[in-house]
Amino acid sequence: MYNSNNNNNLQEKGKFLIETFGCQMNVADSELVAGMLQKCGYSETRDLNQADIIFMNTCAIREKAEETVHHRLDSIQHLKKRKPEMIFGVLGCMAQNLKDDLLESKPYVDIILGPDSYRRIPEIINNRKKQNGHEVDTRLSKYEVYDNLMPSRQDGVNAFVSISRGCDKFCTFCIVPFTRGRERSRSNESIIREVQDAVKNGFAEITLLGQNVNSYRTEEGKFPHLLEGVAMVPGVKRIRYMSPHPQDMDDHLLQVMSEHKNICNHVHLPLQAGSDRILKRMNRTYTKTEFLNLVDTIRDYIPNCSISTDIIVGFPGETNVEYEETLEVMNKVIFDRAFMFKYSPRPGTKAAEYSDQIDEVIKQKRLTRLIDLQQTHTLKANQRHIGKVLKVMVEKESKKSPQQWSGRTEGNMGVIFDKNDEQIKDIVDILIQDAQGVSMFGNRVLEKEMIHEVN
Ligand code: 5AD
Ligand code: SF4
Repeated sequence: MYNSNNNNNLQEKGKFLIETFGCQMNVADSELVAGMLQKCGYSETRDLNQADIIFMNTCAIREKAEETVHHRLDSIQHLKKRKPEMIFGVLGCMAQNLKDDLLESKPYVDIILGPDSYRRIPEIINNRKKQNGHEVDTRLSKYEVYDNLMPSRQDGVNAFVSISRGCDKFCTFCIVPFTRGRERSRSNESIIREVQDAVKNGFAEITLLGQNVNSYRTEEGKFPHLLEGVAMVPGVKRIRYMSPHPQDMDDHLLQVMSEHKNICNHVHLPLQAGSDRILKRMNRTYTKTEFLNLVDTIRDYIPNCSISTDIIVGFPGETNVEYEETLEVMNKVIFDRAFMFKYSPRPGTKAAEYSDQIDEVIKQKRLTRLIDLQQTHTLKANQRHIGKVLKVMVEKESKKSPQQWSGRTEGNMGVIFDKNDEQIKDIVDILIQDAQGVSMFGNRVLEKEMIHEVN
Protein backbone atom coordinates (compact mmCIF):
# COMPACT_ATOMS: atom_id res chain seq x y z
CA MET A 1 0.00 0.00 0.00
CA TYR A 2 1.45 3.35 -1.04
CA ASN A 3 -0.20 6.09 0.88
CA SER A 4 0.81 9.56 1.86
CA ASN A 5 -2.12 9.89 4.24
CA ASN A 6 -1.16 7.53 7.04
CA ASN A 7 -1.50 9.41 10.25
CA ASN A 8 -0.31 7.34 13.16
CA ASN A 9 -1.47 9.90 15.72
CA LEU A 10 -5.10 9.33 14.91
CA GLN A 11 -7.10 6.93 16.97
CA GLU A 12 -8.37 4.13 14.73
CA LYS A 13 -12.05 4.59 14.03
CA GLY A 14 -12.64 1.22 12.38
CA LYS A 15 -11.92 -0.76 9.25
CA PHE A 16 -13.22 -0.21 5.75
CA LEU A 17 -13.29 -2.27 2.57
CA ILE A 18 -14.02 -0.97 -0.92
CA GLU A 19 -15.03 -3.24 -3.81
CA THR A 20 -14.65 -1.61 -7.20
CA PHE A 21 -16.64 -2.42 -10.34
CA GLY A 22 -16.30 -0.98 -13.83
CA CYS A 23 -13.70 1.25 -15.42
CA GLN A 24 -10.29 2.56 -14.34
CA MET A 25 -11.89 5.85 -13.36
CA ASN A 26 -13.69 3.93 -10.63
CA VAL A 27 -10.41 2.33 -9.54
CA ALA A 28 -8.95 5.84 -9.24
CA ASP A 29 -12.02 7.08 -7.36
CA SER A 30 -11.83 4.17 -4.91
CA GLU A 31 -8.20 5.06 -4.24
CA LEU A 32 -9.27 8.62 -3.54
CA VAL A 33 -11.96 7.49 -1.11
CA ALA A 34 -9.50 5.09 0.59
CA GLY A 35 -7.02 7.97 0.98
CA MET A 36 -9.66 10.17 2.55
CA LEU A 37 -10.84 7.47 4.97
CA GLN A 38 -7.28 6.72 6.07
CA LYS A 39 -6.63 10.38 6.63
CA CYS A 40 -9.47 10.60 9.11
CA GLY A 41 -8.53 7.48 11.06
CA TYR A 42 -9.98 4.41 9.32
CA SER A 43 -7.77 1.58 8.15
CA GLU A 44 -8.25 -0.63 5.12
CA THR A 45 -8.97 -4.36 5.29
CA ARG A 46 -9.45 -6.98 2.60
CA ASP A 47 -11.47 -9.21 4.88
CA LEU A 48 -15.23 -8.67 4.66
CA ASN A 49 -15.68 -10.11 8.16
CA GLN A 50 -13.31 -7.56 9.66
CA ALA A 51 -14.89 -4.56 7.95
CA ASP A 52 -16.98 -1.99 9.80
CA ILE A 53 -17.75 -0.13 6.59
CA ILE A 54 -18.20 -1.74 3.17
CA PHE A 55 -18.40 0.44 0.08
CA MET A 56 -19.30 -0.82 -3.41
CA ASN A 57 -18.03 1.57 -6.05
CA THR A 58 -20.43 0.80 -8.87
CA CYS A 59 -20.76 0.99 -12.64
CA ALA A 60 -23.88 1.65 -14.74
CA ILE A 61 -22.45 1.48 -18.25
CA ARG A 62 -24.34 -1.71 -19.22
CA GLU A 63 -27.20 -3.64 -17.63
CA LYS A 64 -24.88 -6.55 -16.88
CA ALA A 65 -22.59 -4.33 -14.80
CA GLU A 66 -25.58 -3.27 -12.71
CA GLU A 67 -26.76 -6.85 -12.26
CA THR A 68 -23.32 -7.85 -10.99
CA VAL A 69 -23.49 -5.17 -8.30
CA HIS A 70 -27.05 -6.14 -7.31
CA HIS A 71 -25.96 -9.78 -6.87
CA ARG A 72 -22.91 -8.77 -4.90
CA LEU A 73 -24.95 -6.60 -2.55
CA ASP A 74 -27.45 -9.40 -2.01
CA SER A 75 -24.67 -11.89 -1.34
CA ILE A 76 -23.06 -9.84 1.44
CA GLN A 77 -26.27 -8.65 3.04
CA HIS A 78 -26.04 -11.42 5.67
CA LEU A 79 -22.91 -9.80 7.15
CA LYS A 80 -25.09 -7.11 8.60
CA LYS A 81 -27.22 -9.61 10.48
CA ARG A 82 -24.15 -10.69 12.37
CA LYS A 83 -22.88 -7.17 12.89
CA PRO A 84 -25.83 -4.74 12.78
CA GLU A 85 -23.67 -1.64 13.30
CA MET A 86 -21.82 -2.37 10.05
CA ILE A 87 -22.29 0.37 7.42
CA PHE A 88 -23.03 -0.47 3.77
CA GLY A 89 -22.50 2.20 1.13
CA VAL A 90 -23.08 2.34 -2.60
CA LEU A 91 -20.85 4.78 -4.46
CA GLY A 92 -20.42 5.79 -8.07
CA CYS A 93 -22.48 5.64 -11.22
CA MET A 94 -25.25 3.29 -10.02
CA ALA A 95 -25.71 5.34 -6.89
CA GLN A 96 -26.17 8.37 -9.07
CA ASN A 97 -28.52 6.66 -11.44
CA LEU A 98 -30.56 4.31 -9.31
CA LYS A 99 -30.79 5.85 -5.89
CA ASP A 100 -34.57 5.46 -5.59
CA ASP A 101 -34.47 1.87 -6.84
CA LEU A 102 -31.69 1.04 -4.43
CA LEU A 103 -33.41 2.61 -1.44
CA GLU A 104 -36.52 0.61 -2.19
CA SER A 105 -35.03 -2.76 -3.13
CA LYS A 106 -32.06 -2.74 -0.74
CA PRO A 107 -33.12 -1.04 2.47
CA TYR A 108 -30.01 -2.39 4.21
CA VAL A 109 -27.86 0.07 2.20
CA ASP A 110 -27.06 2.95 4.56
CA ILE A 111 -25.18 5.38 2.34
CA ILE A 112 -25.65 6.32 -1.31
CA LEU A 113 -23.12 8.71 -2.81
CA GLY A 114 -22.72 9.85 -6.40
CA PRO A 115 -19.28 10.43 -7.97
CA ASP A 116 -19.15 14.13 -7.03
CA SER A 117 -19.91 13.67 -3.33
CA TYR A 118 -16.86 11.80 -2.06
CA ARG A 119 -15.42 14.77 -0.17
CA ARG A 120 -18.36 14.47 2.20
CA ILE A 121 -17.66 10.82 3.08
CA PRO A 122 -16.23 11.40 6.60
CA GLU A 123 -19.14 13.71 7.48
CA ILE A 124 -21.70 11.31 5.99
CA ILE A 125 -20.28 8.36 7.96
CA ASN A 126 -20.48 10.41 11.16
CA ASN A 127 -24.08 11.37 10.42
CA ARG A 128 -24.97 7.74 9.83
CA LYS A 129 -23.30 6.69 13.05
CA LYS A 130 -25.25 9.32 15.00
CA GLN A 131 -28.62 8.27 13.70
CA ASN A 132 -30.14 5.37 11.82
CA GLY A 133 -31.54 6.04 8.38
CA HIS A 134 -30.22 6.60 4.90
CA GLU A 135 -27.61 9.16 3.97
CA VAL A 136 -27.94 10.13 0.31
CA ASP A 137 -26.02 12.68 -1.75
CA THR A 138 -26.10 12.35 -5.50
CA ARG A 139 -25.72 16.00 -6.45
CA LEU A 140 -23.49 16.58 -9.44
CA SER A 141 -21.01 19.42 -9.42
CA LYS A 142 -19.73 21.59 -12.24
CA TYR A 143 -16.46 22.11 -10.41
CA GLU A 144 -15.46 19.10 -8.28
CA VAL A 145 -12.17 17.62 -9.55
CA TYR A 146 -10.86 16.37 -6.19
CA ASP A 147 -7.78 18.56 -6.35
CA ASN A 148 -5.42 18.20 -3.41
CA LEU A 149 -6.76 14.87 -2.16
CA MET A 150 -4.12 12.18 -2.00
CA PRO A 151 -5.20 8.75 -3.21
CA SER A 152 -4.14 5.56 -1.47
CA ARG A 153 -3.00 3.43 -4.38
CA GLN A 154 -3.22 -0.35 -4.58
CA ASP A 155 -0.99 -1.34 -7.48
CA GLY A 156 2.76 -0.98 -7.19
CA VAL A 157 3.64 -0.39 -10.84
CA ASN A 158 0.98 1.81 -12.42
CA ALA A 159 -0.62 4.87 -10.88
CA PHE A 160 -3.94 6.06 -12.31
CA VAL A 161 -4.15 9.82 -12.25
CA SER A 162 -7.52 11.31 -13.05
CA ILE A 163 -7.12 14.56 -15.02
CA SER A 164 -10.73 15.39 -15.79
CA ARG A 165 -14.20 14.27 -14.83
CA GLY A 166 -17.53 13.95 -16.60
CA CYS A 167 -18.35 14.03 -20.29
CA ASP A 168 -20.12 16.52 -22.56
CA LYS A 169 -20.16 14.41 -25.70
CA PHE A 170 -23.55 12.78 -25.17
CA CYS A 171 -23.09 9.71 -27.35
CA THR A 172 -26.69 8.53 -27.56
CA PHE A 173 -25.96 5.09 -26.04
CA CYS A 174 -23.99 6.31 -23.06
CA ILE A 175 -25.11 6.91 -19.48
CA VAL A 176 -21.85 8.58 -18.40
CA PRO A 177 -22.87 12.21 -19.08
CA PHE A 178 -25.84 11.59 -16.76
CA THR A 179 -24.02 9.71 -14.00
CA ARG A 180 -20.82 11.74 -13.98
CA GLY A 181 -22.08 15.10 -15.12
CA ARG A 182 -20.39 17.90 -17.02
CA GLU A 183 -16.82 17.75 -18.17
CA ARG A 184 -14.26 19.62 -16.09
CA SER A 185 -10.45 19.57 -16.03
CA ARG A 186 -8.11 19.57 -13.07
CA SER A 187 -5.35 22.15 -12.92
CA ASN A 188 -2.11 21.30 -14.65
CA GLU A 189 -0.15 22.04 -11.52
CA SER A 190 -2.08 19.69 -9.25
CA ILE A 191 -1.81 16.85 -11.78
CA ILE A 192 1.94 17.31 -12.09
CA ARG A 193 2.21 17.37 -8.30
CA GLU A 194 0.29 14.11 -8.05
CA VAL A 195 2.53 12.53 -10.70
CA GLN A 196 5.66 13.64 -8.81
CA ASP A 197 4.19 12.21 -5.63
CA ALA A 198 3.42 8.88 -7.35
CA VAL A 199 7.01 8.67 -8.61
CA LYS A 200 8.29 9.45 -5.11
CA ASN A 201 6.16 6.56 -3.85
CA GLY A 202 7.79 4.18 -6.34
CA PHE A 203 5.35 4.12 -9.26
CA ALA A 204 7.00 3.75 -12.65
CA GLU A 205 4.01 4.05 -14.96
CA ILE A 206 1.39 6.80 -15.02
CA THR A 207 -1.99 6.37 -16.70
CA LEU A 208 -3.84 9.64 -17.20
CA LEU A 209 -7.56 9.12 -16.96
CA GLY A 210 -10.56 11.01 -18.19
CA GLN A 211 -13.90 9.97 -19.62
CA ASN A 212 -12.74 11.98 -22.58
CA VAL A 213 -9.12 12.35 -21.72
CA ASN A 214 -7.94 14.27 -24.78
CA SER A 215 -10.55 16.99 -24.50
CA TYR A 216 -8.73 18.10 -21.33
CA ARG A 217 -8.21 21.85 -21.36
CA THR A 218 -7.35 24.57 -18.87
CA GLU A 219 -6.06 28.12 -19.22
CA GLU A 220 -2.54 26.69 -19.20
CA GLY A 221 -3.15 24.54 -22.25
CA LYS A 222 -4.79 21.51 -23.78
CA PHE A 223 -4.12 17.80 -23.39
CA PRO A 224 -0.88 17.62 -25.46
CA HIS A 225 0.64 20.33 -23.27
CA LEU A 226 -0.25 18.41 -20.10
CA LEU A 227 1.01 15.13 -21.57
CA GLU A 228 4.33 16.75 -22.38
CA GLY A 229 4.55 18.13 -18.84
CA VAL A 230 3.96 14.66 -17.39
CA ALA A 231 6.53 13.13 -19.77
CA MET A 232 9.11 15.54 -18.39
CA VAL A 233 8.60 14.64 -14.73
CA PRO A 234 11.84 12.89 -13.72
CA GLY A 235 11.39 9.19 -12.98
CA VAL A 236 8.25 8.58 -15.06
CA LYS A 237 9.22 5.52 -17.07
CA ARG A 238 5.97 5.07 -18.96
CA ILE A 239 2.85 7.12 -19.66
CA ARG A 240 -0.51 5.94 -20.97
CA TYR A 241 -3.83 7.74 -21.33
CA MET A 242 -7.41 6.53 -21.46
CA SER A 243 -9.82 7.02 -23.22
CA PRO A 244 -9.45 9.55 -25.99
CA HIS A 245 -12.24 10.51 -28.40
CA PRO A 246 -11.33 10.38 -32.10
CA GLN A 247 -12.77 13.88 -32.53
CA ASP A 248 -10.18 15.35 -30.14
CA MET A 249 -7.09 13.61 -31.55
CA ASP A 250 -4.86 16.18 -33.21
CA ASP A 251 -1.42 16.53 -34.77
CA HIS A 252 -0.03 18.26 -31.71
CA LEU A 253 -0.91 15.25 -29.54
CA LEU A 254 0.66 12.80 -32.01
CA GLN A 255 3.69 15.05 -32.28
CA VAL A 256 4.16 15.03 -28.49
CA MET A 257 3.71 11.24 -28.42
CA SER A 258 6.31 10.74 -31.10
CA GLU A 259 8.82 13.05 -29.40
CA HIS A 260 8.81 11.52 -25.91
CA LYS A 261 10.20 8.04 -25.45
CA ASN A 262 8.34 7.49 -22.20
CA ILE A 263 4.89 8.04 -23.76
CA CYS A 264 3.76 4.57 -24.83
CA ASN A 265 3.23 3.97 -28.53
CA HIS A 266 -0.37 3.02 -27.99
CA VAL A 267 -3.68 4.71 -28.68
CA HIS A 268 -6.99 3.37 -27.48
CA LEU A 269 -9.29 4.73 -30.18
CA PRO A 270 -12.95 3.77 -29.67
CA LEU A 271 -14.56 3.08 -33.06
CA GLN A 272 -18.00 2.01 -31.71
CA ALA A 273 -19.38 1.29 -35.21
CA GLY A 274 -18.28 1.20 -38.85
CA SER A 275 -21.36 2.58 -40.57
CA ASP A 276 -21.79 6.31 -41.10
CA ARG A 277 -25.52 6.16 -40.46
CA ILE A 278 -25.03 4.34 -37.13
CA LEU A 279 -22.16 6.62 -36.12
CA LYS A 280 -24.42 9.60 -36.75
CA ARG A 281 -27.23 8.02 -34.74
CA MET A 282 -24.71 7.39 -31.98
CA ASN A 283 -23.70 11.07 -32.14
CA ARG A 284 -20.07 10.06 -32.52
CA THR A 285 -19.21 13.10 -34.70
CA TYR A 286 -16.89 11.27 -37.17
CA THR A 287 -17.42 9.16 -40.26
CA LYS A 288 -15.88 5.81 -41.14
CA THR A 289 -13.51 7.53 -43.59
CA GLU A 290 -12.44 10.11 -41.01
CA PHE A 291 -11.73 7.32 -38.52
CA LEU A 292 -9.66 5.39 -41.09
CA ASN A 293 -7.76 8.56 -42.04
CA LEU A 294 -7.03 9.17 -38.37
CA VAL A 295 -5.60 5.65 -38.06
CA ASP A 296 -3.32 6.41 -41.03
CA THR A 297 -2.22 9.70 -39.47
CA ILE A 298 -1.43 7.97 -36.17
CA ARG A 299 0.64 5.39 -38.02
CA ASP A 300 2.43 8.12 -40.00
CA TYR A 301 3.51 9.87 -36.81
CA ILE A 302 4.21 6.70 -34.82
CA PRO A 303 4.99 3.81 -37.18
CA ASN A 304 4.83 1.05 -34.57
CA CYS A 305 1.83 2.42 -32.74
CA SER A 306 -0.49 -0.17 -31.33
CA ILE A 307 -4.18 0.69 -31.66
CA SER A 308 -6.98 -0.77 -29.60
CA THR A 309 -10.67 0.02 -29.69
CA ASP A 310 -14.19 -0.33 -28.27
CA ILE A 311 -17.01 -1.59 -30.47
CA ILE A 312 -20.75 -1.88 -29.88
CA VAL A 313 -22.90 -4.29 -31.91
CA GLY A 314 -26.67 -4.27 -32.17
CA PHE A 315 -27.15 -0.54 -31.72
CA PRO A 316 -30.82 0.28 -32.46
CA GLY A 317 -31.59 0.01 -36.16
CA GLU A 318 -28.22 -1.58 -37.09
CA THR A 319 -28.83 -3.61 -40.25
CA ASN A 320 -26.76 -6.59 -41.31
CA VAL A 321 -25.07 -4.51 -43.98
CA GLU A 322 -24.19 -1.83 -41.42
CA TYR A 323 -22.83 -4.47 -39.06
CA GLU A 324 -20.68 -5.79 -41.92
CA GLU A 325 -19.21 -2.31 -42.26
CA THR A 326 -17.89 -2.58 -38.71
CA LEU A 327 -16.15 -5.83 -39.68
CA GLU A 328 -14.80 -4.11 -42.79
CA VAL A 329 -13.22 -1.33 -40.70
CA MET A 330 -11.73 -3.97 -38.37
CA ASN A 331 -10.26 -5.78 -41.37
CA LYS A 332 -8.74 -2.54 -42.65
CA VAL A 333 -7.25 -1.40 -39.34
CA ILE A 334 -6.33 -4.75 -37.69
CA PHE A 335 -6.72 -3.50 -34.13
CA ASP A 336 -4.21 -4.95 -31.69
CA ARG A 337 -7.01 -5.37 -29.19
CA ALA A 338 -10.74 -4.65 -28.97
CA PHE A 339 -13.29 -4.46 -26.20
CA MET A 340 -16.56 -5.54 -27.75
CA PHE A 341 -20.06 -5.13 -26.36
CA LYS A 342 -23.68 -5.84 -27.18
CA TYR A 343 -25.64 -2.62 -27.07
CA SER A 344 -27.39 -2.34 -23.72
CA PRO A 345 -30.23 0.19 -23.51
CA ARG A 346 -29.65 2.62 -20.63
CA PRO A 347 -32.84 4.24 -19.39
CA GLY A 348 -32.67 8.01 -19.79
CA THR A 349 -30.36 7.97 -22.82
CA LYS A 350 -31.58 8.91 -26.30
CA ALA A 351 -30.86 5.54 -27.93
CA ALA A 352 -32.90 3.69 -25.31
CA GLU A 353 -35.93 5.54 -26.68
CA TYR A 354 -35.37 4.42 -30.29
CA SER A 355 -38.17 2.12 -31.40
CA ASP A 356 -36.00 -0.18 -33.56
CA GLN A 357 -34.14 -2.09 -30.82
CA ILE A 358 -32.33 -5.20 -32.04
CA ASP A 359 -33.29 -8.69 -30.95
CA GLU A 360 -31.01 -10.19 -28.28
CA VAL A 361 -30.31 -13.34 -30.36
CA ILE A 362 -29.11 -11.23 -33.29
CA LYS A 363 -26.96 -9.09 -31.00
CA GLN A 364 -25.33 -12.21 -29.54
CA LYS A 365 -24.62 -13.67 -33.00
CA ARG A 366 -23.07 -10.40 -34.14
CA LEU A 367 -20.95 -10.19 -31.01
CA THR A 368 -19.70 -13.79 -31.29
CA ARG A 369 -18.59 -13.24 -34.89
CA LEU A 370 -16.91 -9.98 -33.96
CA ILE A 371 -14.99 -11.58 -31.11
CA ASP A 372 -13.87 -14.43 -33.39
CA LEU A 373 -12.59 -11.95 -35.97
CA GLN A 374 -10.77 -9.87 -33.36
CA GLN A 375 -9.08 -12.97 -31.95
CA THR A 376 -7.52 -13.63 -35.34
CA HIS A 377 -6.47 -9.96 -35.58
CA THR A 378 -4.89 -9.87 -32.12
CA LEU A 379 -2.97 -13.01 -32.94
CA LYS A 380 -1.92 -11.59 -36.31
CA ALA A 381 -0.84 -8.31 -34.69
CA ASN A 382 1.18 -10.17 -32.07
CA GLN A 383 2.70 -12.56 -34.60
CA ARG A 384 4.02 -9.52 -36.48
CA HIS A 385 6.33 -8.97 -33.50
CA ILE A 386 7.91 -12.43 -33.68
CA GLY A 387 11.65 -12.01 -34.27
CA LYS A 388 11.60 -8.40 -33.05
CA VAL A 389 12.91 -6.96 -29.81
CA LEU A 390 10.27 -5.14 -27.76
CA LYS A 391 10.61 -2.98 -24.67
CA VAL A 392 8.77 -4.78 -21.88
CA MET A 393 8.11 -3.47 -18.39
CA VAL A 394 8.37 -6.20 -15.75
CA GLU A 395 5.08 -6.18 -13.82
CA LYS A 396 4.64 -9.36 -11.80
CA GLU A 397 5.51 -13.01 -11.51
CA SER A 398 3.82 -15.08 -14.20
CA LYS A 399 0.84 -17.05 -12.94
CA LYS A 400 2.12 -20.10 -14.80
CA SER A 401 5.58 -20.32 -13.27
CA PRO A 402 7.58 -18.67 -10.47
CA GLN A 403 10.58 -18.83 -12.81
CA GLN A 404 8.93 -16.46 -15.26
CA TRP A 405 7.92 -12.80 -15.35
CA SER A 406 4.81 -11.32 -16.82
CA GLY A 407 5.31 -7.88 -18.35
CA ARG A 408 3.73 -5.47 -20.80
CA THR A 409 4.79 -3.95 -24.10
CA GLU A 410 4.24 -0.29 -24.87
CA GLY A 411 1.22 -1.50 -26.81
CA ASN A 412 -0.16 -2.89 -23.53
CA MET A 413 0.13 -6.53 -24.58
CA GLY A 414 1.24 -9.17 -22.09
CA VAL A 415 4.65 -10.86 -22.52
CA ILE A 416 5.88 -13.90 -20.59
CA PHE A 417 9.63 -14.53 -20.29
CA ASP A 418 12.16 -16.36 -18.12
CA LYS A 419 13.56 -14.52 -15.13
CA ASN A 420 17.13 -13.21 -15.16
CA ASP A 421 18.45 -10.53 -12.86
CA GLU A 422 15.74 -7.96 -13.66
CA GLN A 423 13.36 -6.47 -11.08
CA ILE A 424 9.71 -5.47 -11.16
CA LYS A 425 9.32 -2.06 -12.90
CA ASP A 426 12.50 -2.53 -14.99
CA ILE A 427 12.07 -2.04 -18.72
CA VAL A 428 13.93 -4.80 -20.54
CA ASP A 429 14.52 -5.87 -24.15
CA ILE A 430 12.63 -9.03 -25.02
CA LEU A 431 13.10 -10.95 -28.26
CA ILE A 432 9.58 -12.13 -29.12
CA GLN A 433 9.52 -15.79 -30.10
CA ASP A 434 5.89 -16.83 -30.03
CA ALA A 435 2.35 -15.48 -29.82
CA GLN A 436 -0.66 -17.33 -28.48
CA GLY A 437 -4.09 -16.00 -27.55
CA VAL A 438 -3.55 -12.44 -26.34
CA SER A 439 -0.04 -13.10 -24.99
CA MET A 440 3.46 -13.11 -26.41
CA PHE A 441 6.43 -15.18 -25.28
CA GLY A 442 10.08 -14.28 -25.54
CA ASN A 443 13.55 -14.13 -24.08
CA ARG A 444 15.56 -11.35 -22.55
CA VAL A 445 18.20 -9.86 -24.80
CA LEU A 446 21.09 -8.67 -22.71
CA GLU A 447 22.75 -5.46 -23.83
CA LYS A 448 25.77 -7.11 -25.36
CA GLU A 449 23.57 -9.35 -27.52
CA MET A 450 21.41 -6.49 -28.86
CA ILE A 451 20.89 -6.83 -32.59
CA HIS A 452 18.34 -4.15 -33.37
CA GLU A 453 15.69 -2.37 -31.44
CA VAL A 454 12.07 -1.95 -32.36
CA ASN A 455 10.05 0.52 -30.32
N1 5AD B 1 -24.10 -0.54 -24.31
C1 5AD B 1 -23.01 -1.20 -24.67
N2 5AD B 1 -21.76 -0.70 -24.58
C2 5AD B 1 -21.64 0.57 -24.12
N3 5AD B 1 -20.56 1.34 -23.94
C3 5AD B 1 -20.96 2.51 -23.44
N4 5AD B 1 -22.30 2.52 -23.29
C4 5AD B 1 -22.74 1.31 -23.72
C5 5AD B 1 -24.02 0.73 -23.84
N5 5AD B 1 -25.12 1.40 -23.51
C6 5AD B 1 -19.20 0.92 -24.30
C7 5AD B 1 -18.58 1.84 -25.35
C8 5AD B 1 -17.57 2.60 -24.54
C9 5AD B 1 -17.16 1.57 -23.50
C10 5AD B 1 -16.49 2.13 -22.31
O1 5AD B 1 -18.38 0.96 -23.15
O2 5AD B 1 -17.95 1.05 -26.32
O3 5AD B 1 -16.46 3.05 -25.31
FE1 SF4 C 1 -19.89 7.96 -23.07
FE2 SF4 C 1 -19.39 9.02 -25.49
FE3 SF4 C 1 -18.70 10.36 -23.24
FE4 SF4 C 1 -17.35 8.13 -23.92
S1 SF4 C 1 -17.44 10.05 -25.13
S2 SF4 C 1 -18.13 8.66 -21.87
S3 SF4 C 1 -18.96 6.87 -24.83
S4 SF4 C 1 -20.78 9.87 -23.92
